[in-house]
Amino acid sequence: MPMFPDAWMAELLSRNDIVSVVSEYVRLSAKGRRMWGCCPFHHEKTPSFSVTGDKQLYYCFGCHAGGSVVQFVMEMEKLQYTEAIKFLAQRVGMELPNDVDDEKLKNERAKKERLYAACKEAARFYHECLLSNMGKEAKEYLAKRGLDAKTVKRFGLGYAPDSWDSLLLHLKEKGFTENEIKDAGLALSGKKEGSCYDTYRNRVIFPIIAPNSRVLGFGARIMGKGEPKYLNTGDTLIFNKRNNLYAINMQKGKQINDILIVEGYMDVISLYKHGVENAVASLGTALTQQQARLIKRYTNKVYICYDGDAAGQNAMLRGLDILAKEELKVRVVVIPGGLDPDEYVRKNGKDAFESLKDKALTLPAYKLLCIERACDLNTDEDREEYAKKACAYVSTIEPVEKERCISQIARKSGLSRETIMSQCGATKSSKKEETFVKRGNRREKKDDESVQRRLKAERMMVAYMSLSKDNAMYVMEKMAQEDVQFENEAFTEYADALLMEYSEKDVIDEARLLSTQSASVAEAVLPALQLSDELSDSSRDIIEDCMKTMQADAIRARILEIMNGADAQMPDFAERLMEAEKLKKQLSRLLES
Ligand code: CTP
Ligand code: MN
Repeated sequence: MPMFPDAWMAELLSRNDIVSVVSEYVRLSAKGRRMWGCCPFHHEKTPSFSVTGDKQLYYCFGCHAGGSVVQFVMEMEKLQYTEAIKFLAQRVGMELPNDVDDEKLKNERAKKERLYAACKEAARFYHECLLSNMGKEAKEYLAKRGLDAKTVKRFGLGYAPDSWDSLLLHLKEKGFTENEIKDAGLALSGKKEGSCYDTYRNRVIFPIIAPNSRVLGFGARIMGKGEPKYLNTGDTLIFNKRNNLYAINMQKGKQINDILIVEGYMDVISLYKHGVENAVASLGTALTQQQARLIKRYTNKVYICYDGDAAGQNAMLRGLDILAKEELKVRVVVIPGGLDPDEYVRKNGKDAFESLKDKALTLPAYKLLCIERACDLNTDEDREEYAKKACAYVSTIEPVEKERCISQIARKSGLSRETIMSQCGATKSSKKEETFVKRGNRREKKDDESVQRRLKAERMMVAYMSLSKDNAMYVMEKMAQEDVQFENEAFTEYADALLMEYSEKDVIDEARLLSTQSASVAEAVLPALQLSDELSDSSRDIIEDCMKTMQADAIRARILEIMNGADAQMPDFAERLMEAEKLKKQLSRLLES
């Protein structure tokens, strides 16, 4: 994220009062210290969207959207951070800090502009090659895959000639340096000192384009068989596949109900050709949090439709969890016969695909299907096995979602609803103690109550820290003394930022600080900052209490870890038992104090 000079940012924020900016989109009325209106980010009839003028923050109690005026504009206008800053500058007639002394920012921006320009020129070149005589074979290839000239044009497809330097020569002629061309990912250094050659040769080209119409990178497919099937632009100054989605640019400025996530370039294009125009592709990686957030700017309703093969289904399972975590409403489109979306829509047409969408599964239903696929239900034992596994999963989900799953498991396993119901219940109570699972270094808890308790305590601490420098120092010292850490990484990050800020000044501008944080940090911290209304400098006893909650939680986690044998340092059972006893005593002392 490029940094704008502090003083310039401060002026920008002071001239773009959040109340006046938000009022351009939402009708607000004052109630208490806050202004209230209907949230523009989710559908509602009674206002739960609030704006605080003195904090310069907004927050929705319904959908938990929140942030500074910058985040508001990003969400509302579907802009990237830098674009949002430009938007706000324009709104109040401020010049961008181009001529300001920030040399580094200026250079980086200039460099990026060169790379954007190089990619745009490359896309134009490739497209022209496709249309020319040179592109005969590629044109035939695309036609064979069912694409017409109109679709090819709409997606700006191209052809990279079968040559080592045709793009290089073309771009050099247009004034780009070899370094710029390499930095854009369009050429590679050869083995021989100083040599350089085109990255993509004799391939069909798929430009990857951002919502603001800039070409960021390319996918390039071999025609026919061969490895690798696709070559993609790696990380460059302007492109990182984890932060982008193929064809997201096609959604800009459209009224959309939902977005369909597929795996491949050809899936998107082929669906489009057949009239399904809302598909994007995750660029061959497992879906990332950043991609989920990108989607969230357009809609909160997503369908996901990956290839029917095992790799596709596994990638989809991982993707689903990420989407659900971002609170997107997600459904799974299952394609019969192991086809991919491209193959299916070509064979069966748009209506057939739409009806698959109508039959799309909810997340729990899809997970049950995966469990079912993993067991075959031929014998009584198999069916019992399936029922056990399915119930173990169902016992982890929300009660309202359970209902439908229970009927389904009963039907598939041939067991009674009562049996299934009690199995789901039973699994839960026997699991109760195993509230922690070890995954990497991060402890993940399943027990909702303790998660909530801990989250609340951590939020309160952050709120308190943000009130004053003294508070921040107090909390950090206390935490160090007692050896407790925030479990939520966003809080750690924000606490560090707060301390940095306080090390330079005594009073900080919360809204400005927040605007420099990543979206995930801002999102986690916002509810905490809202809490600071309820605190005063003399709330140290509350803080003591929160600290105790965090400590107790950490000790409980340690006990479970030891007793589950997750600590390889302590393989001896008797030793583990003793250590656990010690910790239990420590815990009760703590809770009594
Ligand atoms: N992919 C990649 N590199 C590869 C293979 C795949 O980047 N070597 C990515 C591409 O984005 C591709 C997606 O993963 O579109 C899905 O891969 P796959 O299912 O193999 O390809 P399809 O999209 O079905 O491509 P096609 O129909 O052209 O064979
Ligand atoms: Mn395919």
